[in-house]
Amino acid sequence: MRRPSILVNVVLVLALFNCSTWTVWSRSGSLCKPKNFEEIRRPHSVSITDFGAVGDGVTLNTKAFQNAIFYLNSFADKGGAKLFVPVGRWLTGSFDLISHLTLWLDKDAVILGSTDFADWPVVDPLPSYGRGRELPGRRHNSLIYGYNLTDVIITGDNGTIDGQGSIWWKSFKNKTLDYTRPHMVELINSTSILISNLTVLNSPFWTIHPVYCSDVTVQNVTIISPLNSPNTDGIDPDSSDEVCIEDCYISTGDDLISIKSGWDEYGIAFGRPSKNIIIHRLSGRTQASSGIAIGSEMSGGVSDVFAEDIHMFDSNNSIRIKTSPGRGGYVRNIYISNVTLVNVTTAIRLTGIYGEHPDDGYDPNARPVIERITIKNVIGEQIKHAGIIQGIEGDNFVNICLSNIILNVTSSYAWNCSNVQGYSDKVLPEVCGQFKERIFPDHCSDCYHLSDPEPGSND
Ligand SMILES: *[C@@H]1O[C@H](CO)[C@@H](O)[C@H](O)[C@H]1NC(C)=O
Ligand SMILES: *[C@@H]1O[C@H](CO)[C@@H](O)[C@H](O)[C@H]1NC(C)=O
Ligand SMILES: *[C@@H]1O[C@H](CO)[C@@H](O)[C@H](O)[C@H]1NC(C)=O
Ligand SMILES: *[C@@H]1O[C@H](CO)[C@@H](O)[C@H](O)[C@H]1NC(C)=O
Ligand SMILES: *[C@@H]1O[C@H](CO)[C@@H](O)[C@H](O)[C@H]1NC(C)=O
Ligand SMILES: *[C@@H]1O[C@H](CO)[C@@H](O)[C@H](O)[C@H]1NC(C)=O
Ligand SMILES: *[C@@H]1O[C@H](CO)[C@@H](O)[C@H](O)[C@H]1NC(C)=O
Ligand SMILES: *[C@@H]1O[C@H](CO)[C@@H](O)[C@H](O)[C@H]1NC(C)=O
Ligand SMILES: *[C@@H]1O[C@H](CO)[C@@H](O)[C@H](O)[C@H]1NC(C)=O
Ligand SMILES: *[C@@H]1O[C@H](CO)[C@@H](O)[C@H](O)[C@H]1NC(C)=O
Ligand SMILES: *[C@@H]1O[C@H](CO)[C@@H](O)[C@H](O)[C@H]1NC(C)=O
Repeated sequence: MRRPSILVNVVLVLALFNCSTWTVWSRSGSLCKPKNFEEIRRPHSVSITDFGAVGDGVTLNTKAFQNAIFYLNSFADKGGAKLFVPVGRWLTGSFDLISHLTLWLDKDAVILGSTDFADWPVVDPLPSYGRGRELPGRRHNSLIYGYNLTDVIITGDNGTIDGQGSIWWKSFKNKTLDYTRPHMVELINSTSILISNLTVLNSPFWTIHPVYCSDVTVQNVTIISPLNSPNTDGIDPDSSDEVCIEDCYISTGDDLISIKSGWDEYGIAFGRPSKNIIIHRLSGRTQASSGIAIGSEMSGGVSDVFAEDIHMFDSNNSIRIKTSPGRGGYVRNIYISNVTLVNVTTAIRLTGIYGEHPDDGYDPNARPVIERITIKNVIGEQIKHAGIIQGIEGDNFVNICLSNIILNVTSSYAWNCSNVQGYSDKVLPEVCGQFKERIFPDHCSDCYHLSDPEPGSND
């Protein structure tokens, strides 16, 4: 197997001894694979205004985007092309990207999502979900959409994509939607994707959704939706691998990042995992949900997740795994380190009884396997509960390793654990009995990555 190439700049200083407590890493700069901007300098460039677009915030420019991209398709085999979006407010419905394209948003350029649902066509559900995520049947197409693409860059000088999602949130709340709400950016079955130096606001539903993708980098992106907007997840890598998310600030109404891989019998049948995911230097907040979540849709499996340098404040949960009988699949080899928390209700929340099924066709005996989860170096103040860790009866979560976790807990009980087995070192307040056995020296090889020099190297 090809070694994951996504990780660079990791210099191992002291890891000569397996299971050493004093393995030290020295990292400088980025953990994402750098893009070679020279190599992908697009020889052809057009502006959206060349196709009659009007940036007044009122004129609908869907045709201009579609025509510009159709025109640029003829340069795909000539080094690709760039579509430049200048300062202005460019109202549009959904449009499709092509391979070898750079969509460039200048400073103060704003792409605005149309508030007319008819401008977001309806498309088939994803095979790994079997239906729309919130309603049976089909779903609205994302604003910016791509299928079967390679070498796509969405970037700029901190330009903005604003989904104007409030009309969708209201329709969700008053139950008048006909189809599942759309994402802002969805890329399906695509490779070599970079989304960077942008701000994305007010998504109708999950904001950035790479699904069945490989080699996806999201860097230096700000994602904001109101804290009470429903299901406005920030970035949801779904049945995707080699994903690197770095230097992002996310504040939304749902999970900041949620790693997924399909839903119950549909996800099991599709069988495409999410793996080799790096999350580095993430900060943000969510009052309703979690910072880094895995699931609840994880039926194709999730493994080899490496998250480091996470800061959260004024939030509900920070680290969360959600699953249920019926999901099948697995979550394994997860490493999360250097998490600083201020004013967070529950620092660690692992749940085996999340519920929510696509239909009655799920197999209640399809039990998820949750194992080898390492959470270390967590510091928190104004924390209500340190951990609520509830596995599945008869299907324990195993080899959950907690190391160097120091939380200032304000409620009378810090931990609540059931159907879980694990190990711990240096956890305050004192962790539940299920974790009483020490990690070092006897159990470090049961714990993911407490001895392994390279994140994601499972080949
Ligand atoms: C994606 O590529 C596959 C294989 O070439 C093809 O069968 C399918 O129609 C393509 N889908 C779209 C939407 O282009
Ligand atoms: C992040 O984006 C801002 C605005 O586009 C830019 O000024 C800054 O250099 C970027 N930072 C990195 C690390 O790329
Ligand atoms: C980008 O712009 C947003 C507001 O549109 C701002 O909040 C954010 O700090 C800017 N990001 C960078 C990296 O300059
Ligand atoms: C539901 O909300 C939508 C969006 O605000 C609105 O257009 C519609 O009239 C509302 N319908 C009902 C029945 O309240
Ligand atoms: C995904 O793309 C590959 C080629 O990269 C193609 O062989 C495959 O059929 C595509 N899958 C789907 C579901 O479109
Ligand atoms: C982001 O913008 C900065 C400043 O222009 C630039 O140096 C950097 O290469 C950009 N990064 C990405 C990943 O687009
Ligand atoms: C916080 O998360 C828990 C578990 O996901 C949920 O039950 C609770 O309603 C959330 N709190 C808020 C304020 O949304
Ligand atoms: C931990 O993460 C924070 C950002 O959340 C960063 O400022 C700090 O340098 C990191 N600590 C170490 C030891 O890497
Ligand atoms: C703590 O966070 C909650 C939201 O989860 C917020 O309502 C509250 O104002 C914050 N408290 C402080 C002291 O900032
Ligand atoms: C925990 O927080 C309380 C209230 O903010 C503070 O008085 C106390 O010193 C803190 N304890 C530790 C160990 O930091
Ligand atoms: C732990 O959680 C269970 C289930 O939510 C609840 O019944 C129990 O009261 C909790 N234990 C404590 C000590 O609060």
